[in-house]
Amino acid sequence: MKHILVTGGAGYIGTHTVVELINNGFVPVIVDDFRNSSHLAIQGIEHITKQKLLIHEFDLCDLIAVKSLFSRYSFDGIIHFAAYKAVGESVNSPLKYYTNNLQSLTNILACMIEFQVNNLVFSSSCTVYGDPVGIKEVSENSEKAQPSSPYGNTKLIGENIIEDTAKANPWLKSICLRYFNPVGAHPSAEIGEFPIGKPNNLLPFVTQTAIGLHEKLTVFGNDYPTVDGSCVRDFIHVVDLANAHVQAIDFLNSHKDGFNEAINIGTGKGTSVLEIINLFEKISNQKLNWEFGPRRDGDVIEIFANASKAKELLNWEAKHTVEDAVLSAWNWEINLKQKRF
Ligand code: NAD
Ligand code: WQD
Repeated sequence: MKHILVTGGAGYIGTHTVVELINNGFVPVIVDDFRNSSHLAIQGIEHITKQKLLIHEFDLCDLIAVKSLFSRYSFDGIIHFAAYKAVGESVNSPLKYYTNNLQSLTNILACMIEFQVNNLVFSSSCTVYGDPVGIKEVSENSEKAQPSSPYGNTKLIGENIIEDTAKANPWLKSICLRYFNPVGAHPSAEIGEFPIGKPNNLLPFVTQTAIGLHEKLTVFGNDYPTVDGSCVRDFIHVVDLANAHVQAIDFLNSHKDGFNEAINIGTGKGTSVLEIINLFEKISNQKLNWEFGPRRDGDVIEIFANASKAKELLNWEAKHTVEDAVLSAWNWEINLKQKRF
């Protein structure tokens, strides 16, 4: 039985990954202090998997607590999701982001070394590429840019910390998965994204507007040099993303030498903001109340993944379409409404 530590396992991507780990015979051990998640998410996983989960509720910035966890289990791998992720908030509270996102990571790495635990999968982001100039399809070798927010910077610095730690500890194996835009929910609608407060991301704002939580969606900008004037992103279904973690853990477990690389996780296809709205209207069979507004500061114009490295090394590729993702996000929103009221 392989035990995998899943930090931030009660969060959006963590919950879906816990389900796929269990489906593939792993035993996930969740650490989360629920600062950005709900205990309902745990109930959701337990409904889907019909299993009682191993959960430890504490702050990963507490090194003594992390050490005590490592002394209780013999982990076969670690998936480190726990972090703050709101780009705008990170601009106003940079130290909150640098402290939580980096201290939790250095604590995990310190314990990996002290307890000789191998195989780390780290949640990175396409934000490390900035706004690509020229070709909009980015591969892992594309030039990285100075991220436009402290949040993005924590991902770039996190990758560098792992690289330096692996150089000093050549037995250490790691993969930094650079996610594009995760969207959608589990097909059961038992788990999904649980935005606390007003969502910043597009799809939760679309579904929350349609369910009546906001009057109207504002589309930020209509004159970008793209297919229809709105920005273009690579929207990746969260279940596909979850499976990429399982495949990354499998790869690290079977790889003998120190392996430390970054891998893009996206569909390889760009979809515009207006295309998402049209898809949503078709799938939900209703009109969405939306209008154009000014451009949002710091927005990347267009970016999508070259995902061939994930296929080559992990034998991973996206199986769900963006339509599947929009439909599952809508079903989740409808289900959440029943939980809210
Ligand atoms: P999320 O906020 O839903 O999940 C993160 C979880 O970590 C939450 O449950 C939170 O309570 C927990 N957490 C945070 N700090 C903690 C700490 N110090 N101790 C214990 N628990 C703590 O976020 P998510 O969308 O699931 O993202 C997971 C990871 O993926 C993050 O590292 C994020 O930066 C990265 N990522 C997310 C996206 C995205 O759009 N969702 C895109 C690229 C990368
Ligand atoms: C997508 C598009 C908006 C909301 C952010 C982070 C990035 C990564 C993913 C973690 C943009 C437009 C949005 C709205 C809109 N996270 N939009 N109206 O900007 O690609 O990336 O999340 O690593 O680091 O920056 O995602 O969902 O916020 O926006 O028009 O109300 O939707 O302008 O073009 P983004 P997003």
